[in-house]
Amino acid sequence: MKELKILGLVAAFTLILYIGVEPFAHKFLHPHVAPANFNIQQGDEELANERIATAKKGVEEAEKKQIEDALVAAKKELEKEESELASYNELWERANTISALTGNAQKGEELFVMACTSCHGLKTQGFDAPFDDELSSEAYGVVVPDLSSAGAIYDEKFLIALIENPSLALKLSHKFNDDNPFPMTPFYGIEDDIEQEVADIVAYLKSIAPSEISGKEIFSDACLRCHDMKYDKLLSPGDKAHLTSYMGMTPPDLSMMIRSRSAYYLNTFINDPQKNLPGTSMPRVGLTENAQEQVIQYMEEVGDSKKSERTTVGIVLILFFTAMSVVAYFWKKEVWKDLH
Ligand code: HEC
Ligand code: HEC
Repeated sequence: MKELKILGLVAAFTLILYIGVEPFAHKFLHPHVAPANFNIQQGDEELANERIATAKKGVEEAEKKQIEDALVAAKKELEKEESELASYNELWERANTISALTGNAQKGEELFVMACTSCHGLKTQGFDAPFDDELSSEAYGVVVPDLSSAGAIYDEKFLIALIENPSLALKLSHKFNDDNPFPMTPFYGIEDDIEQEVADIVAYLKSIAPSEISGKEIFSDACLRCHDMKYDKLLSPGDKAHLTSYMGMTPPDLSMMIRSRSAYYLNTFINDPQKNLPGTSMPRVGLTENAQEQVIQYMEEVGDSKKSERTTVGIVLILFFTAMSVVAYFWKKEVWKDLH
């Protein structure tokens, strides 16, 4: 009877810790972040509305406390968040209009040569990058990426938005503005129908993109200009000092990131870094859901290659101990049978 009471006490105490205290602490250490959303227009709207709601609460609190300076600051914050939502609505409305047009890939090639090859290479089509890695990283902070796979790995609406308004599409408008322009210039059109021209460029990029691409290749095209993957012997091209001054910090090596952050975190973070790290200088990369899954899978292969082995060993161990417990129980009964 006494043993049962002790067991009950231990169970109750564990449950209180597990159900009550742990989630409570977790709420403060890891505030809730909406999961990845590959409908990027919807994701941007949701995040902007969340920030507006927080800013409104700030205004209410400042009104209650009646501190003039705090109220002015809170109202300014609210205005900023509301104008952010308006900019995103405008961006995605235009992107929707353009994505409904039928692009002409052939015209897109001509436009691409006029508007993009001054910075970007397209290896598979025989367009070499205009600068070598060293010059490129000195001029732009990063080695400008080759776009051979862009049509396959980036979301179509993201590409449209990026071509028209790079810093907003990448969610970096807090960092780049008229005084500190983003190194990729927006496309202002060659003739007069800019919407059709953007649709043509995107159609071209999609027409030349490979139909199959590995996670490692996606990583090389979308992440390597900023991040190393040392455990797979991939080092970011270009100069670290230029990269650091461009980003404001050295982007971390991603070899072990899957283990320190979990696949769930990476999925939300890569989809929209501003959700987890507001104000960060890492851009929204704009990968499609498939491409992002492949990158995370690749990060797992490099950083956590023993995962499936670990899971199997775990299950075998649990089965082993269960079987041993049964044996131990009957053995004990056998040994003690004369004493009871
Ligand atoms: C003045 C140079 C310049 C021009 C012109 C330019 N880009 Fe870029 N582009 C860049 C730089 C620099 C980056 C990398 C920026 C970074 O990583 O912060 C980039 C990045 C990109 C990316 C990768 C974005 C991502 O999500 O990672 C794509 C796609 C792209 N450019 C498409 C284009 C297209 C299409 C054109 C032509 C309409 C174009 N660029 C014109 C400089 C340029
Ligand atoms: C233009 C540069 C740039 C590109 C491209 C880029 N990143 Fe980053 N990334 C950064 C910077 C800078 C940080 C550090 C962010 C911070 O701490 O504010 C970072 C941080 C990270 C982190 C760590 C997040 C954390 O919580 O500490 C992960 C994971 C990551 N990036 C994954 C990726 C993946 C995957 C890609 C490609 C799909 C990618 N990044 C592309 C610049 C970049």
